[in-house]
Amino acid sequence: MSEVFPLCVRDLVVERGGVRLLDIPSLHIERGERVALVGPNGAGKSLLLRALTALLDADATRAVSWAGQAPSDAVLKRCGVVMQQPLMLRRSVSANLRFALEHHGAQRLDRRALAAKIEQALALCQLGDMAQRSARVLSGGERMRLALARALVLEPDCLLLDEPTASLDHTASRHVESLIREACEAGRTLLLITHDLALARRLCNRTVLMHKGALIADCDTPRFFDSPPNPAAAAFVRGDYLE
Ligand SMILES: Nc1ncnc2c1ncn2[C@@H]1O[C@H](COP(=O)(O)OP(=O)(O)OP(=O)(O)O)[C@@H](O)[C@H]1O
Ligand SMILES: [Mg+2]
Repeated sequence: MSEVFPLCVRDLVVERGGVRLLDIPSLHIERGERVALVGPNGAGKSLLLRALTALLDADATRAVSWAGQAPSDAVLKRCGVVMQQPLMLRRSVSANLRFALEHHGAQRLDRRALAAKIEQALALCQLGDMAQRSARVLSGGERMRLALARALVLEPDCLLLDEPTASLDHTASRHVESLIREACEAGRTLLLITHDLALARRLCNRTVLMHKGALIADCDTPRFFDSPPNPAAAAFVRGDYLE
Protein backbone atom coordinates (compact mmCIF):
# COMPACT_ATOMS: atom_id res chain seq x y z
CA MET A 1 0.00 0.00 0.00
CA SER A 2 1.42 3.41 -0.89
CA GLU A 3 2.32 5.93 1.80
CA VAL A 4 0.02 8.88 2.64
CA PHE A 5 2.36 10.66 5.05
CA PRO A 6 3.87 13.14 5.64
CA LEU A 7 0.95 15.49 5.48
CA CYS A 8 2.32 18.91 4.53
CA VAL A 9 0.84 22.38 4.33
CA ARG A 10 2.78 25.12 2.61
CA ASP A 11 1.65 28.75 2.30
CA LEU A 12 -2.00 28.10 3.01
CA VAL A 13 -3.93 31.36 2.87
CA VAL A 14 -7.72 31.48 2.97
CA GLU A 15 -9.61 34.76 2.73
CA ARG A 16 -13.33 35.39 2.67
CA GLY A 17 -14.91 38.81 2.21
CA GLY A 18 -11.52 40.49 2.52
CA VAL A 19 -10.85 38.81 5.88
CA ARG A 20 -7.85 36.48 6.26
CA LEU A 21 -9.17 33.35 7.96
CA LEU A 22 -6.13 31.10 7.57
CA ASP A 23 -2.48 32.01 7.14
CA ILE A 24 -0.26 28.96 7.63
CA PRO A 25 3.22 29.11 6.07
CA SER A 26 4.07 25.55 7.05
CA LEU A 27 2.77 22.47 8.88
CA HIS A 28 4.12 18.92 8.74
CA ILE A 29 2.59 15.83 10.29
CA GLU A 30 4.46 12.55 10.13
CA ARG A 31 3.04 9.05 10.22
CA GLY A 32 2.25 7.90 13.75
CA GLU A 33 2.10 11.35 15.32
CA ARG A 34 -0.78 12.18 17.64
CA VAL A 35 -1.41 15.87 17.22
CA ALA A 36 -3.83 17.98 19.24
CA LEU A 37 -5.04 21.12 17.47
CA VAL A 38 -6.31 23.54 20.08
CA GLY A 39 -7.34 27.19 20.15
CA PRO A 40 -10.21 29.52 20.93
CA ASN A 41 -13.54 29.56 19.09
CA GLY A 42 -13.15 30.95 15.61
CA ALA A 43 -9.38 30.30 15.50
CA GLY A 44 -9.74 28.42 12.20
CA LYS A 45 -9.33 24.81 13.39
CA SER A 46 -12.32 23.40 11.51
CA LEU A 47 -11.46 25.44 8.46
CA LEU A 48 -7.94 23.96 8.48
CA LEU A 49 -9.44 20.46 8.65
CA ARG A 50 -11.57 21.32 5.63
CA ALA A 51 -8.46 22.48 3.78
CA LEU A 52 -6.58 19.28 4.65
CA THR A 53 -9.41 17.19 3.23
CA ALA A 54 -9.77 19.25 0.04
CA LEU A 55 -13.15 20.71 0.96
CA LEU A 56 -12.18 24.34 0.34
CA ASP A 57 -11.32 26.03 -2.95
CA ALA A 58 -8.64 24.91 -5.41
CA ASP A 59 -6.05 27.41 -4.11
CA ALA A 60 -6.37 26.03 -0.58
CA THR A 61 -6.17 22.46 -1.85
CA ARG A 62 -2.97 23.27 -3.77
CA ALA A 63 -1.31 24.23 -0.47
CA VAL A 64 -1.84 20.72 0.92
CA SER A 65 0.03 17.54 0.07
CA TRP A 66 -0.17 13.98 1.33
CA ALA A 67 3.11 12.10 0.75
CA GLY A 68 4.03 14.74 -1.79
CA GLN A 69 0.81 14.36 -3.78
CA ALA A 70 -2.23 16.59 -4.07
CA PRO A 71 -5.14 15.32 -1.93
CA SER A 72 -6.72 12.64 -4.12
CA ASP A 73 -9.77 10.44 -3.57
CA ALA A 74 -7.41 7.51 -3.04
CA VAL A 75 -5.62 9.31 -0.21
CA LEU A 76 -8.75 10.75 1.34
CA LYS A 77 -10.28 7.26 1.45
CA ARG A 78 -7.49 6.35 3.85
CA CYS A 79 -8.49 9.14 6.27
CA GLY A 80 -11.22 8.66 8.84
CA VAL A 81 -12.70 12.13 9.10
CA VAL A 82 -15.24 13.29 11.67
CA MET A 83 -16.41 16.83 11.07
CA GLN A 84 -17.66 19.07 13.88
CA GLN A 85 -21.23 18.77 12.58
CA PRO A 86 -21.27 15.40 10.86
CA LEU A 87 -23.71 14.97 8.01
CA MET A 88 -25.74 11.78 7.92
CA LEU A 89 -27.71 10.19 5.13
CA ARG A 90 -31.47 10.18 5.72
CA ARG A 91 -31.31 6.44 6.25
CA SER A 92 -30.86 4.05 9.15
CA VAL A 93 -27.75 3.96 11.30
CA SER A 94 -26.62 0.71 9.71
CA ALA A 95 -27.37 2.00 6.19
CA ASN A 96 -25.07 4.95 6.90
CA LEU A 97 -22.30 2.52 7.77
CA ARG A 98 -23.04 0.39 4.72
CA PHE A 99 -22.87 3.45 2.47
CA ALA A 100 -19.48 4.42 3.90
CA LEU A 101 -18.10 0.93 3.30
CA GLU A 102 -19.52 0.69 -0.22
CA HIS A 103 -18.49 4.16 -1.38
CA HIS A 104 -15.44 5.08 0.65
CA GLY A 105 -13.94 1.73 1.58
CA ALA A 106 -10.52 0.85 0.21
CA GLN A 107 -11.63 -2.64 -0.83
CA ARG A 108 -14.84 -4.19 -2.17
CA LEU A 109 -16.57 -6.50 0.29
CA ASP A 110 -19.07 -9.28 -0.33
CA ARG A 111 -22.45 -9.17 1.46
CA ARG A 112 -21.35 -11.29 4.39
CA ALA A 113 -18.14 -9.36 5.02
CA LEU A 114 -20.11 -6.10 4.74
CA ALA A 115 -22.70 -7.24 7.30
CA ALA A 116 -19.97 -8.42 9.68
CA LYS A 117 -18.11 -5.10 9.46
CA ILE A 118 -21.29 -3.13 10.09
CA GLU A 119 -22.12 -5.24 13.13
CA GLN A 120 -18.59 -4.84 14.46
CA ALA A 121 -18.67 -1.04 14.04
CA LEU A 122 -22.10 -0.80 15.70
CA ALA A 123 -20.85 -2.78 18.68
CA LEU A 124 -17.61 -0.81 18.87
CA CYS A 125 -19.45 2.49 19.17
CA GLN A 126 -22.26 1.06 21.32
CA LEU A 127 -24.90 1.67 18.68
CA GLY A 128 -26.08 -1.94 18.35
CA ASP A 129 -29.58 -1.31 19.70
CA MET A 130 -30.22 1.56 17.28
CA ALA A 131 -29.02 -0.05 14.05
CA GLN A 132 -32.41 0.36 12.38
CA ARG A 133 -33.16 3.83 13.75
CA SER A 134 -33.11 6.73 11.32
CA ALA A 135 -29.82 8.61 11.62
CA ARG A 136 -31.85 11.84 11.42
CA VAL A 137 -33.42 11.30 14.83
CA LEU A 138 -30.22 10.51 16.73
CA SER A 139 -29.24 12.76 19.61
CA GLY A 140 -26.09 14.87 19.25
CA GLY A 141 -23.96 12.37 21.15
CA GLU A 142 -25.38 9.36 19.28
CA ARG A 143 -24.76 11.14 15.99
CA MET A 144 -21.15 11.75 16.97
CA ARG A 145 -20.72 8.08 17.87
CA LEU A 146 -22.15 7.10 14.48
CA ALA A 147 -19.76 9.51 12.77
CA LEU A 148 -16.88 7.92 14.63
CA ALA A 149 -18.11 4.40 13.82
CA ARG A 150 -18.34 5.47 10.17
CA ALA A 151 -14.74 6.69 10.27
CA LEU A 152 -13.37 3.65 12.12
CA VAL A 153 -15.18 1.05 10.01
CA LEU A 154 -13.03 2.07 7.04
CA GLU A 155 -9.89 1.08 9.00
CA PRO A 156 -8.19 4.31 7.97
CA ASP A 157 -4.49 5.14 8.19
CA CYS A 158 -5.29 8.31 10.07
CA LEU A 159 -8.07 9.86 12.10
CA LEU A 160 -8.93 13.53 11.66
CA LEU A 161 -11.42 14.32 14.41
CA ASP A 162 -13.13 17.65 15.08
CA GLU A 163 -14.41 17.79 18.66
CA PRO A 164 -15.33 14.11 18.83
CA THR A 165 -16.28 14.26 22.51
CA ALA A 166 -17.92 17.70 22.62
CA SER A 167 -21.52 16.49 22.90
CA LEU A 168 -20.91 13.23 24.72
CA ASP A 169 -21.87 12.33 28.27
CA HIS A 170 -19.08 11.29 30.60
CA THR A 171 -19.37 7.54 29.97
CA ALA A 172 -19.60 7.92 26.19
CA SER A 173 -16.71 10.37 26.26
CA ARG A 174 -14.45 7.90 28.11
CA HIS A 175 -15.53 5.19 25.69
CA VAL A 176 -14.70 7.33 22.64
CA GLU A 177 -11.37 8.23 24.22
CA SER A 178 -10.52 4.55 24.53
CA LEU A 179 -11.54 3.95 20.89
CA ILE A 180 -9.21 6.75 19.79
CA ARG A 181 -6.42 5.40 21.98
CA GLU A 182 -6.83 1.90 20.52
CA ALA A 183 -6.76 3.33 17.00
CA CYS A 184 -3.49 5.11 17.81
CA GLU A 185 -2.02 1.98 19.36
CA ALA A 186 -2.89 0.19 16.12
CA GLY A 187 -0.57 2.68 14.39
CA ARG A 188 -3.07 5.26 13.15
CA THR A 189 -1.99 8.87 12.97
CA LEU A 190 -4.24 11.29 14.85
CA LEU A 191 -5.19 14.92 14.38
CA LEU A 192 -7.54 15.77 17.22
CA ILE A 193 -9.29 19.13 17.40
CA THR A 194 -10.54 19.65 20.91
CA HIS A 195 -11.36 22.16 23.64
CA ASP A 196 -10.82 19.43 26.21
CA LEU A 197 -7.22 20.12 27.16
CA ALA A 198 -7.07 17.19 29.58
CA LEU A 199 -8.08 14.91 26.70
CA ALA A 200 -5.43 16.46 24.43
CA ARG A 201 -2.88 15.90 27.15
CA ARG A 202 -3.85 12.26 27.64
CA LEU A 203 -4.02 11.31 23.97
CA CYS A 204 -1.58 13.45 22.01
CA ASN A 205 2.20 13.67 21.90
CA ARG A 206 2.26 17.00 20.08
CA THR A 207 0.10 20.09 20.59
CA VAL A 208 -0.46 22.88 18.10
CA LEU A 209 -2.11 26.13 19.17
CA MET A 210 -4.08 28.08 16.63
CA HIS A 211 -5.26 31.67 16.98
CA LYS A 212 -6.75 34.02 14.38
CA GLY A 213 -5.96 31.63 11.54
CA ALA A 214 -2.28 31.17 12.44
CA LEU A 215 -0.34 28.42 14.21
CA ILE A 216 1.20 30.26 17.14
CA ALA A 217 2.74 27.36 19.09
CA ASP A 218 3.73 23.83 18.14
CA CYS A 219 5.64 21.56 20.46
CA ASP A 220 5.52 18.29 22.32
CA THR A 221 2.53 18.01 24.62
CA PRO A 222 4.28 17.81 28.01
CA ARG A 223 6.24 20.97 27.18
CA PHE A 224 3.15 22.76 25.85
CA PHE A 225 1.36 22.32 29.16
CA ASP A 226 4.21 22.31 31.69
CA SER A 227 6.53 24.87 30.17
CA PRO A 228 4.64 26.64 27.37
CA PRO A 229 6.88 27.76 24.49
CA ASN A 230 5.67 31.38 24.37
CA PRO A 231 3.52 33.88 26.32
CA ALA A 232 0.42 33.21 24.17
CA ALA A 233 0.62 29.48 24.82
CA ALA A 234 1.12 30.17 28.53
CA ALA A 235 -1.95 32.42 28.54
CA PHE A 236 -3.99 29.79 26.71
CA VAL A 237 -2.95 27.05 29.15
CA ARG A 238 -3.91 29.37 32.07
CA GLY A 239 -7.32 29.87 30.45
CA ASP A 240 -6.77 33.57 29.77
CA TYR A 241 -8.33 35.39 26.85
CA LEU A 242 -5.95 35.54 23.86
CA GLU A 243 -5.47 39.01 22.35
N1 LIG B 1 -17.25 30.64 4.37
C1 LIG B 1 -16.91 31.50 5.31
N2 LIG B 1 -17.08 32.82 5.13
C2 LIG B 1 -16.73 33.72 6.09
N3 LIG B 1 -16.19 33.36 7.26
C3 LIG B 1 -16.01 32.07 7.50
C4 LIG B 1 -16.35 31.06 6.55
N4 LIG B 1 -16.04 29.86 7.09
C5 LIG B 1 -15.53 30.10 8.30
N5 LIG B 1 -15.51 31.42 8.56
C6 LIG B 1 -14.99 32.08 9.77
O1 LIG B 1 -13.67 31.57 9.98
C7 LIG B 1 -13.38 31.57 11.37
C8 LIG B 1 -12.82 30.22 11.73
O2 LIG B 1 -13.87 29.27 11.74
P1 LIG B 1 -13.67 27.79 12.26
O3 LIG B 1 -14.98 27.11 12.13
O4 LIG B 1 -12.53 27.18 11.56
O5 LIG B 1 -13.29 28.03 13.79
P2 LIG B 1 -12.90 26.96 14.89
O6 LIG B 1 -11.51 27.24 15.32
O7 LIG B 1 -13.21 25.61 14.39
O8 LIG B 1 -13.88 27.37 16.09
P3 LIG B 1 -14.73 26.45 17.12
O9 LIG B 1 -13.79 26.13 18.25
O10 LIG B 1 -15.83 27.38 17.56
O11 LIG B 1 -15.25 25.26 16.40
C9 LIG B 1 -14.67 31.92 12.09
O12 LIG B 1 -14.61 33.26 12.53
C10 LIG B 1 -15.74 31.72 11.04
O13 LIG B 1 -16.83 32.60 11.24
MG1 LIG C 1 -14.58 24.22 14.86
